[in-house]
Amino acid sequence: MSQPAGNGDGAAALLRTEGLVAGYVPEVNILDGVDIVLHDAEIVTIVGPNGAGKSTLIKTVFGLLRAREGRVLLRGEDISQRKPHTISRSGLSYVPQLDNVFPSLTVQENLELGALARRGTKASERFERMYELFPRLAERRRQSAGTMSGGERQMVAMARALMPDPEVLLLDEPSAGLAPAFVEAIFEKVAEVNQAGVTILMVEQNARRALGFSTRGYVLDLGRNRFEGPGHELLDDPKVAELYLGGGSRIDEQ
Ligand SMILES: Nc1ncnc2c1ncn2[C@@H]1O[C@H](COP(=O)(O)OP(=O)(O)OP(=O)(O)O)[C@@H](O)[C@H]1O
Ligand SMILES: [Mg+2]
Repeated sequence: MSQPAGNGDGAAALLRTEGLVAGYVPEVNILDGVDIVLHDAEIVTIVGPNGAGKSTLIKTVFGLLRAREGRVLLRGEDISQRKPHTISRSGLSYVPQLDNVFPSLTVQENLELGALARRGTKASERFERMYELFPRLAERRRQSAGTMSGGERQMVAMARALMPDPEVLLLDEPSAGLAPAFVEAIFEKVAEVNQAGVTILMVEQNARRALGFSTRGYVLDLGRNRFEGPGHELLDDPKVAELYLGGGSRIDEQ
């Protein structure tokens, strides 16, 4: 199962990367031919060591970095040369790993900016939907995002990205730096957002917990695919556990 083998069913893919090569400095490739597939309604998690290229992959999918080789296909259409604002309008939203809110703006203002990403967003309905989904934010809508806790800020960032009603949400380490109770709260929200019909592509350091509720996962290392498979199969694969999940079986963690 776990060796990269491609998914074979490209026609049905919502989002797909094919042989993606990208980097920051000329002639240094950080992604060295990455293939991932995301189907409608899935939660797919990318795990791998620090520096593996996980954030770079998400940034390249979102058009913040130009693909040097390979393609990013959204429902079969090549979006690899498009700019982020165009990609947003096609139904992708991105929550960066760092600096993902405007700290001096209120919760409400952060959400307002989110609505601008896609023409035709019915902002008033979306605000209500977001405050329903994140009741904690409803109570704090006039508070500046910079004064909120890490977990609350992450919720602001997710709500902002969901304002344009995307088909696909790209999340880079939503649980980073959060206390365990908040990690759970964020993962519950991710699952809830998914159940509401948003397909999720997520990077997570909290690999066991994230793979545990993911449809499928990919292990990326040194800019290449190493393993892939259903979340639970990756967790049960002794090689993946030993190399990438700190050893042991997942039962130890529960
Ligand atoms: N803006 C940048 N300019 C130059 N090199 C960069 C830049 N951002 C990242 N890199 C390099 O690209 C490599 C991959 O970084 P990336 O952020 O994609 O890793 P990651 O898998 O997300 O790691 P982490 O788990 O630490 O978030 C690293 O060697 C990093 O130093
Ligand atoms: Mg990263």
